[in-house]
Amino acid sequence: MTTPAFDKVRLDGRAIMITGGAAGIGKATALLCAARGASVLVADLDEGSGADVVAEIERQGGKAVFKHTDVADEEDVRAAVAAATASFGRLDGAFNNAGIMISGTPIHELSLEQWHKGLAINLTGVFLCVKHQLAHMRANGGGAIVNNASASGVVGIPLAINYVATKHGVIGITRAAAAEVSGQGVRVNAIMPGAVETPLLQEALRSPEVRQAVAAGHPIGRISQPGETAETVAWLLSDAASFVAGAAIAIDGGYTAL
Ligand SMILES: NC(=O)c1ccc[n+]([C@@H]2O[C@H](COP(=O)([O-])OP(=O)(O)OC[C@H]3O[C@@H](n4cnc5c(N)ncnc54)[C@H](O)[C@@H]3O)[C@@H](O)[C@H]2O)c1
Repeated sequence: MTTPAFDKVRLDGRAIMITGGAAGIGKATALLCAARGASVLVADLDEGSGADVVAEIERQGGKAVFKHTDVADEEDVRAAVAAATASFGRLDGAFNNAGIMISGTPIHELSLEQWHKGLAINLTGVFLCVKHQLAHMRANGGGAIVNNASASGVVGIPLAINYVATKHGVIGITRAAAAEVSGQGVRVNAIMPGAVETPLLQEALRSPEVRQAVAAGHPIGRISQPGETAETVAWLLSDAASFVAGAAIAIDGGYTAL
């Protein structure tokens, strides 16, 4: 039996665009949003895995479409937003999640090329998505956008200056957009996950010592699963979060509380 509170976290009839929806946190969020009643546009570079996510949603009785998208390319982002509205007739929500982690290189050795690559995907990508999604949502009379920052959006970590800078920037984009458009019916928020068990961290977590150290850095004592982040995103996209705007919400097992 559902409670009235749970009913508010339903996403029935909503059309939601998810970048980086072919893997990790984006995939878990696509599956959860579809299970809560949304139609989902999976926008990603990875066609094969993206098609698998769509097939899984359809097997479970949901509705989803894949669109090949590089979030760093404005024409691709424009086309992805247009594909969502063409497929579902509207765009109510977006999870701007695609991102890469450039790390392991000391600051004095990081090339300008690597620096620009991280900026293009993690920061410009989020800006382009917000820009084109807003145009459609304002025309619809409202919507909700969630940008995926990171705990690295508020604290530094060594050997990851590009990642940390871009994630601080994602929170800046979120606050600036919320300040500008909350009065127009669009809520813009950010999430700040701690370590999540996804392909992004696979390589780093291969060593048992590193895995243990990362888990121990979170007061809760473990690394999280993608579905735990997805729950917060689905809530932020739903009417249950109707007065939440401009927030940067930690989902980090206490990592940034230390
Ligand atoms: N995994 C973590 O511990 C963690 C923690 C905090 C924040 N995050 C953030 O969460 C987001 C998702 O991370 P994840 O761990 O699920 O990563 P992941 O590598 O598992 O999945 C990322 C997805 O994004 C896609 N992608 C990459 N570049 C793209 C581009 N230019 N255009 C479109 N799609 C692109 C990839 O193909 C992939 O499907 C990232 O922004 C990441 O910074 C992750």
